[in-house]
Amino acid sequence: MKALVLAGGSGTRLRPLSYSTPKQLVPIANRPVLEHVLANLRALGITEVGVVVDAASTRIQEALGDGSRLGLRVTAIPQVSPLGLAHCVAISRAFLGDDDFVMYLGDNVLPDGIGGHAERFAATRPDAQVVVRKVADPRAFGVAEFRPDGTLERLVEKPARPRSDLALIGVYFFTAAVHRAVAAIEPSARGELEITDAIQWLIDHGGAVDAVEHTGYWRDVGQVEDVLECNRRLLEDLVPAVHGHIDSATELRGPVVIEAGARVVRTRIEGPALIGAGTVVEDCHIGPGTSIGRGCAVRGSRVRDSVVMDDVSIAGPTDLRDSVIGHGATISLPPSAGPCSLVVGAATRIEPAA
Ligand code: G1P
Repeated sequence: MKALVLAGGSGTRLRPLSYSTPKQLVPIANRPVLEHVLANLRALGITEVGVVVDAASTRIQEALGDGSRLGLRVTAIPQVSPLGLAHCVAISRAFLGDDDFVMYLGDNVLPDGIGGHAERFAATRPDAQVVVRKVADPRAFGVAEFRPDGTLERLVEKPARPRSDLALIGVYFFTAAVHRAVAAIEPSARGELEITDAIQWLIDHGGAVDAVEHTGYWRDVGQVEDVLECNRRLLEDLVPAVHGHIDSATELRGPVVIEAGARVVRTRIEGPALIGAGTVVEDCHIGPGTSIGRGCAVRGSRVRDSVVMDDVSIAGPTDLRDSVIGHGATISLPPSAGPCSLVVGAATRIEPAA
């Protein structure tokens, strides 16, 4: 089985972060979302991965290289414009050949993996197997409708009045039968070749289409709130460990990881929290729900429920909560600012006037 990871799209709901960091590279627990995706695929024994990327950007390719660091062979498949998930399958035809494949949206986080779903697909081999999950507001998703006997009847993309609360999440299993369906469909009202339409075509033409329910944690990191919530969830799985240096005036509570080469001085850290390699933290109160990237300097500050990317400098008396701070930003807020919630792109400077 091969994998097709979709890592194009413009991430409009994550602006301004996505101007500098594609959403698939936003770090969750100090690891890009895409690496969590690829780790789940590697865990299935897959080694051949096609990654659909925005043809106008080389960022994803630079981050992944040839994939060997992750035990994979990665083939980049450039997409000139975001014309839909089924369009991604169409332009990947040469890479996919006639092999079975799992298609995985590069902004979806499933910490428990997809092993059970993959095993079921391998055992039953329907033409398509979708993964659904109960969601609070199905209108933002493709929605699965079932017949009374539990078989899949219909998939509707972003219905105004959903007839079920089971949404398609970003993991799909296919045999080569999908290629005929993709070739047969027309663009939707939003001008995209929808994968839901291709799967519906299979249903309408007597194909075998199955749905499996994912009951574990799942999030697509489309918005800042998702990034923060997902970060917190993944931090909770951390096995506490101190690989760096902490002084005797530092207090750690709950699950905390201090990576190698980090130095923590006169600081209180409430887990779940993660301090990245080579980062210096002095006179701070960090966490809970906070990851600080690598090579950062954080002094005299309070940071909770936040994602701080690599090489960020934060100077006190900054008080951040529910914030996402992009690579290489410099933040120094005056005492009068009080607690702040910031979403800051890479290399941004927020400092009091000299
Ligand atoms: C896409 C699919 C939708 C699915 C969702 C899952 O939507 O079209 O059916 O429910 O991914 O994340 P998009 O996020 O591209 O609007």
